[in-house]
Amino acid sequence: MAKTKTNQPGSESNSEKLWGGRFDGATDPTVERFSASVHFDRALARYDIRGSIAHAQMLAASDLIPNEDAEALVAGLTSIQNQIDADEFEFDPALEDVHMNIETRLHEQIGAVAGRLHTGRSRNDQVATDLALYLKDACQAAQLGVLELQLILIERAKEHIDTILPGYTHLQRAQPVRLAHHWLAYVELLSRDRQRFFDARNRLSHCPLGAGAIAGSTLPLDRSHTAEALGFTAPTRNSMDSVSSRDMALEIMADTAICMINLSRMAEEWVIWSSTEFSFMELADAYSTGSSLMPQKKNPDVPELVRGKSGRTVGNLVSLLTTMKGLPLSYNRDMQEDKEPLFDSVSTLRDCLEVMSGALATAHINVERMAEAAQDPMLLATDLAEALVREGVPFREAHEVVGRIVAHCVKTGADLQHLSHADLSEFHSAFSSGAETLLDLERSFAERTLVGGTARERVQQAISETESELIEARKAVEDMA
Ligand code: ARG
Repeated sequence: MAKTKTNQPGSESNSEKLWGGRFDGATDPTVERFSASVHFDRALARYDIRGSIAHAQMLAASDLIPNEDAEALVAGLTSIQNQIDADEFEFDPALEDVHMNIETRLHEQIGAVAGRLHTGRSRNDQVATDLALYLKDACQAAQLGVLELQLILIERAKEHIDTILPGYTHLQRAQPVRLAHHWLAYVELLSRDRQRFFDARNRLSHCPLGAGAIAGSTLPLDRSHTAEALGFTAPTRNSMDSVSSRDMALEIMADTAICMINLSRMAEEWVIWSSTEFSFMELADAYSTGSSLMPQKKNPDVPELVRGKSGRTVGNLVSLLTTMKGLPLSYNRDMQEDKEPLFDSVSTLRDCLEVMSGALATAHINVERMAEAAQDPMLLATDLAEALVREGVPFREAHEVVGRIVAHCVKTGADLQHLSHADLSEFHSAFSSGAETLLDLERSFAERTLVGGTARERVQQAISETESELIEARKAVEDMA
C-alpha cells in the first residue's frame, strides 16, 4: 500500500520537494491530492527508468558527470526497477508523480549523487519520452493481439470452407456465402487495424529527451546518444513541439477506437448468432455465463462486453481530444490528463482481443442450422437474373422480370426452386431451362470465381495467401526493436 505524506503549510516538510528552493510554504494537502498522478502514471515506471538510464549514460559520455557517478545512478535505477518488479516499491502520492517517486527513492538509495540525474532534463521532456516508449510497446502489443485473433479466424475458416450460410444485408438474407469467406472479411478489416498501429509506431521515431522544459539546454547534451540508446532513429527536431504534443497518443487512441468498433461488430454478430432464433453458434461454457435467476440461460456476456467496452474507447479518445483542444504551446498541466484515458484504451483493447480470440477458438458452429438457412431459394434470385443477362437480356429488365417471379411465388406460395422451364417462360422467353437447373447452389458457388469472391478455390487461395502473410507479419512484429 502506498503511504500518504501531507505537507502542512509553513511546515518543514516542504524540504521534501526536490525542487523546493523557490517555495517558502508547503503545498496544501488538497492540492497535493488534486495534482498527484502517481496512482496512474506509475504504469510508466519502467519507461521512466529506461529513459533515466540512457540519460545518465549520455551525461557521462558527454563529460557532464563523472563516469562513476553515472554508474552509481544506473545501479540505483536498476535496483529500483527490481523493487518495482518484485512489488516492493512503495509509490508515495505526496511525491506527485512517477518521476518524482523514482528520483526521490534514488536520493534515498545513493545519496547526493542522485542530484546529478536531472542535469539538462525537465519532467516535460521526460514524460514525453516515457510516453513515446510506452506507445511504441502498446502499438506492438496491439499488433500481436490483432494477429492472434486473425490467425484464429484463419484456423476456423479452414475448418469451415464448406460451411454455407446466408450472407446478410440489412440483416435480411441476401446471398449464400461460405463461413470461411465471412470470417475472412474480418481478417481483412483487422489487417487494416493492424497496419494503423504499424504506421503509428513508425511515426514514434524521434526522441524528445534533451528538449528540456521547452527550449533545450545550455549544456552540451548529446541528444543523438540518448535517442539511439532508447531505440529511436533521431532526436526530435523542435524542442517546443517535443514537450507540447500528444497527437501520437491521440492517434493510437483513434486507432484503438476504430479497432474496438470493428470488434464490436463481430461481437454483435456472435450475440445474434447465439440467440435461439438464429442458433448459428454456441459459445463454449468457458466464454459464457448463466443468469442468477433463469436457470435455462446461457448468455453471451463476453461478446456483449466487448460491444459495450468499445464505447469507452471512443469516450477516451473524445476525452483527450477535448483536453488538447485550444491548448497554447507548449507544456500545460492539462496534459497530465492524457494518461488515464490512454491507459484505459490500451488495456481495454488488449483484453478484448484476448477474450474474442479465446471465444472464437472454442465456439461451436451449428453447420446444419447455417446450411438450412442458406437453402432459402430466394437467395439465388440474383443468379436467376444473371441467367437472363447471359442470354442477352439487359440487367435492369432481368431484375424486373425476376422481381415479378419472386412476387408471384410470395403471392401463390409456389416454390421458386421448382418453377419449370414453362413457368419461367411465361415471365420471359429468354430463360434457357427450369429453375432447378438455374438455381443450383453448388453451381452458383462454383461460378463465383471473381477476385474476392466466394468460389471454393478463391476462398482456399485467400486462406493460404493470407495465412502466410499473417505468419510473416507476426515474425516481423515480434522482432521489432
Ligand atoms: N505528471 C506530469 C504529466 O504527466 C509530468 C510533467 C510535469 N511537468 C510540470 N512542469 N509540472 O504531465
